[in-house]
Amino acid sequence: MRITIIGTGYVGLVTGACLAEQGNDVFCLDLDAAKIALLNDGGIPIHEPGLVDVVLRNRNAGRLVFSSDIGAAVAHGELLFIAVGTPPDEDGSADLTHVLSAAESIGRHMTGFKVVVDKSTVPVGTGDRVGAIIGGHLALRGVDATFSVVSNPEFLKEGAAVEDFMRPDRIVIGHANDKEGERARLLMTQLYRPFNRHRERTHWMDVRSAEFTKYAANAMLATRISFMNELANLADQVGADIEAVRRGIGSDPRIGHGFLYAGAGYGGSCFPKDVRALSHTASQHDLELLILRAVETVNERQKQVLGRKVMRRFGRDLAGKRFAVWGLSFKPNTDDMRGAPARVLLRELIDSGASVAVFDPVAMDEAARVFARDFTADELARIDFVAGPMEALDGAEALVIVTEWKAFRSPDFAQIKARLNYPVIFDGRNLFQPQLMAEYGIEYHGIGRSALT
Ligand code: UGA
Repeated sequence: MRITIIGTGYVGLVTGACLAEQGNDVFCLDLDAAKIALLNDGGIPIHEPGLVDVVLRNRNAGRLVFSSDIGAAVAHGELLFIAVGTPPDEDGSADLTHVLSAAESIGRHMTGFKVVVDKSTVPVGTGDRVGAIIGGHLALRGVDATFSVVSNPEFLKEGAAVEDFMRPDRIVIGHANDKEGERARLLMTQLYRPFNRHRERTHWMDVRSAEFTKYAANAMLATRISFMNELANLADQVGADIEAVRRGIGSDPRIGHGFLYAGAGYGGSCFPKDVRALSHTASQHDLELLILRAVETVNERQKQVLGRKVMRRFGRDLAGKRFAVWGLSFKPNTDDMRGAPARVLLRELIDSGASVAVFDPVAMDEAARVFARDFTADELARIDFVAGPMEALDGAEALVIVTEWKAFRSPDFAQIKARLNYPVIFDGRNLFQPQLMAEYGIEYHGIGRSALT
């Protein structure tokens, strides 16, 4: 099938490459000429496991092209995917500028039937706005072409995006009930057939419900995490182990195991933005989503948990003290620093006078770029980017782990102990067994694990 993807950001690029992999003829459009030039040169603007291979294979086979030509892009696809960013506006609402301008471009250029598939995360009702803009332009141009707007939200996780796209748990598609909507449904059914071979994973619904489903999913997952983080803080006080509690409740199938890990708070671009946008939508309807407000507050506080634990142990004045920090990206397998808890930790350590030696397997360049904005030149002079995890330990009072990269899961504990000034680990992702740390003579501070330390 002929597919156009508008926007070669995270979702757009993964969607385009994975659909090309199924034999579709995919045209990826981006207005950022530098990004298109990079992609045409075989480069990839993001770090995502497995993506490079899929992009290059399909580009070389001629099934995946990158261009900034809007007219050609709209002419190419029978299905036009909108996969542009919806960053938060100052009031927390989703900024729809890029989505609506994509709709405008479609309305300006289309001549025959199109299915317009919204993959960007957009507030309920955006599908109608997209439809109205396209319809308005067609009327202005006097073009007699029909179209249908479909909502097909994306559930892929950074770091596992290709795998998530190729093997989805579910596919959510919202479509209209009229003649064009039915035609759209047939085309979408064909497009997703390769992903539904063993069992049907598609949930068909109306457009508004599909738009809502995306927010509801992220809000629910964020709620589980904040809930566990609150319980972990209580566990620290009452002497219980949150890891035992997590397993104990997760084995109830009504609860399930996923997304119950207490830690240093959730980051990334999606949970924070979507929780806020859903709250904002509610406020537009004179409703207050009390739970979501708490989810956000708890998460902001949780990002400070490591800094708090360090200061409780080493005092509020950390001048002249150095700390090793492992992991900077908001989660493993990505270099994404948006909303990363490491940024909050570093701000607190630097404000208290400390210096830090930081290491991340992938996100060092991106972190340097982000820190250049977060910190002054004087402050940056107290942040050392070191070549490996062990190098970070030399001269440091303690080790703080923020991101659970695989390379940090089974380190040489004896070496950690030998290289640190004090054998103290603050573990923001509960990677180690407290009893084993005690065996090594390492003072261990997990999240919600004081029962065992
Ligand atoms: C999230 C959703 O999981 C995807 O389904 C969704 O498609 C995506 O947002 C999106 O809307 O685009 P993502 O932000 O890439 O994906 O990352 P997650 O794996 O969900 O992790 C988010 C944050 O929650 C990370 O900071 C992670 O460390 C934290 N987390 C996750 C926990 O603290 N505890 C957990 O148990 C799970």
